[in-house]
Amino acid sequence: MKILGIETSCDETGVCLIEAHSTGSGQANKNQVTVLGNQLYSQIALHEKYGGVFPMMAKREHAKNLVPLLEKCLEEASLLFLSSDEEGLGAVEEKIKNILIREGELFEDLKKFLKKTKKPDIDAIAVTNGPGLEPALWVGVTFAKALGVAWNIPIIPTNHMEGHIVASLLFPNNACEALPSIPRLSQGGVASRRAGAVCSGLEAVEYKINKIKYPAVALLISGGHTQLVLIKDKLKYEIIGSTKDDAVGEAFDKVARMLGLPYPGGPQIAKYANDWKNKKSARQTFKFPRPMISSKDLNFSFSGLKTSVLYSLKKFPVLTEEIKQEVAYEFKKAVIDVLVTKTKSAILEFGASSLIVGGGVIADRDIRQALEKMSAELNIDFYLPEISASTDNALMIAVAGFLRSQILGVRCQAKEFKAEGNLSL
Ligand code: KG4
Ligand code: ZN
Repeated sequence: MKILGIETSCDETGVCLIEAHSTGSGQANKNQVTVLGNQLYSQIALHEKYGGVFPMMAKREHAKNLVPLLEKCLEEASLLFLSSDEEGLGAVEEKIKNILIREGELFEDLKKFLKKTKKPDIDAIAVTNGPGLEPALWVGVTFAKALGVAWNIPIIPTNHMEGHIVASLLFPNNACEALPSIPRLSQGGVASRRAGAVCSGLEAVEYKINKIKYPAVALLISGGHTQLVLIKDKLKYEIIGSTKDDAVGEAFDKVARMLGLPYPGGPQIAKYANDWKNKKSARQTFKFPRPMISSKDLNFSFSGLKTSVLYSLKKFPVLTEEIKQEVAYEFKKAVIDVLVTKTKSAILEFGASSLIVGGGVIADRDIRQALEKMSAELNIDFYLPEISASTDNALMIAVAGFLRSQILGVRCQAKEFKAEGNLSL
């Protein structure tokens, strides 16, 4: 089946079209995904100026970009057919106008697009309906609902965190298999991916969806979440630990701001920490706390760590590059210690056979390595996404929608769901 994925939960606008197949049943069941078109537009350049993401600004950007990205995605998939029919949209126009009642410009863009194109051969739309920034989610959800009505196809509401889990289970199925670095989604621009193209080592078009051994533990670390999730079976999630205050990504972003580094903080902290590591200096000016590392539960806290960085920096009237590098390095070390210790406890407590890690922060190479090493020591299976597929994208949403539809079937739920900023797994 062909599924269109739509992602607008934060500051990336993603539209991705996949063709997914399932063959065999029971143990012999195999799921394959072909990426037909994949477009991602990052708003980072816009939010960078303000040091963070403003929900209403993100929403406006999504509304502006959704139709152009959809058009590009269909073109890439060779599914964009112009219509010679000048009759207009008929009764559908009123319906989609009502759905997009608060999105006047998006409605006009979509109307123009629908009038000039024929309905593509797509079976369903998977859209992120939470968690995330509610205004940003809202625009994606209403857009998906309007498209569903216009094309008369069902919508699969999809949980963003399930998307991050699924991103870790995608394994390139072609020549890229032999290469250490595989598919690359574009950052800060629009991806270009051709159906049927031979994998160049930078992009993958065909994926196998890995089967995992249960129970599994998932560690999800993003800008909005830090969660440990127990997965007893397909789609059976139980949150066994979460942050009491800041999410890890949020802590990266805030510490970066204290150091005068731009948003998003993760890649900046990673760069500075790496520069310090390469200096191999024996100096240790800073020692930061590992909050809740010894608590009996599986919860996290990062605000104390952030405050400790803040107070340490106050002692220095000028922040030299060296100080920034050392702080970034020591901050990351503290984060890694906490993540590894808590995740290991979760694995041991629940006798997990697999560890899945996901979310934007797992783009950090040292965090990836530390968790991989711990999994190897415990002799359990380890799944992580490609670095470029760690941050938000629509491929993960399309695939999560496909897996969900396989188990629950695809129903048109347009009236039955809404955007939910605090949606839980
Ligand atoms: O999953 P994601 O793209 O969006 C949310 O769902 O929140 O995660 C974004 C977070 C940001 O806080 C960003 O600073 C962090 O992921 N991040 C990183 C890296 N790249 C992005 N953190 C550490 N290292 C990175 N290389
Ligand atoms: Zn995310």
